[in-house]
Amino acid sequence: MRRRGPPHIFAGMRLPLLSALLLAAPLAAQSPKPRVHLVATGGTIASTNYYSGDAGKIGVDQLLKAVPAIDTVATISAQQFANVASTGMTPTMWLALSRGITDTLKAHPDLAGVVVTHGTDTLEETAYFLDLTVADPRPVVVTGAMRPADGVGIDGPMNLLASVRVAASPDARGRGTMVLLNDEIMAARDATKLNTVRPNAFGAPYRGDLGVADPERVVFHRDPRHAPTFDLAGVTELPRVDVAYTYVGADGAAIDAFVAAGAKGIVVAGAGRGGTTSGMSDAINRALAKGVVVVRGSRAGSGSVVVGTGASRRANGGPSTVGTGDLNVQHARVLLMLALTKTSDPREIARIFAEHQ
Ligand code: SIN
Repeated sequence: MRRRGPPHIFAGMRLPLLSALLLAAPLAAQSPKPRVHLVATGGTIASTNYYSGDAGKIGVDQLLKAVPAIDTVATISAQQFANVASTGMTPTMWLALSRGITDTLKAHPDLAGVVVTHGTDTLEETAYFLDLTVADPRPVVVTGAMRPADGVGIDGPMNLLASVRVAASPDARGRGTMVLLNDEIMAARDATKLNTVRPNAFGAPYRGDLGVADPERVVFHRDPRHAPTFDLAGVTELPRVDVAYTYVGADGAAIDAFVAAGAKGIVVAGAGRGGTTSGMSDAINRALAKGVVVVRGSRAGSGSVVVGTGASRRANGGPSTVGTGDLNVQHARVLLMLALTKTSDPREIARIFAEHQ
């Protein structure tokens, strides 16, 4: 793992959807405006006719056209990485997105930061993956919209403008990847989607937001916790990690099936502080005995589950579950996928989870 610190554009990517590269005409070379790179991936912010069951898509050029005020804030270069609903994002695309952003920042030292537009449904997962893997101190701001591009009272253009203002702000440097919707700036590790339709859908229920993009200025109230980033060198694939949900009467069938399907890790969305039924506990023990790493989190939506040591307190000191701390289950899954690229020792995984609190 690397500490976040000073490190072409998506070179070597094979996905056809990456082919449309739009570099905006460079504005005057003597312009004092900061430069921000925009990476569009799809989602409601880039969709039309959304509620019809036959939604259309708009490209990054149209996204920018809807916000002429951006030109007063920054000089923009833009890239169409994908144009998918966020449930179409994959771990393979995460690797390409993270590497592309890192390479772009490296190749363009004059960039102030990067903005990523993304569907809101899985936005928090992609944002945390970027937070854990982009080591450059320049900010990455991930945004989206709850209302489609051709809707009434739409939030996409405002979210995009505010995100560019944050990415261009010198105060945003060193704060890692952030999520911005509804003027609220959240650390990627803390941000989660809390509502299915409203423009204020995102929040950071346990730690609160980092700041706000007020009309006059970008204000930060606090620093995010700085955790080491993961070096993706040599990582061609992310290990399979599944999530098993606890509920009254749940047995171990899901966990056993995930193990049979090749899961290297399982995050349990436990009740309260990570509790499970006896059927799930038995399946967890079977998984641990097979070398699968099991992380216990909570379905409660906020709060923490003790990380622990990853070692059983019994005399034999065998493997034990690791707690998520205050990461939600989705975020814990992303961290576990990356941790498993370095080690499958539960004690070491516990150390990594403790480091990311
Ligand atoms: C999606 O996540 O792609 C659809 C929902 C949204 O962007 O708000």
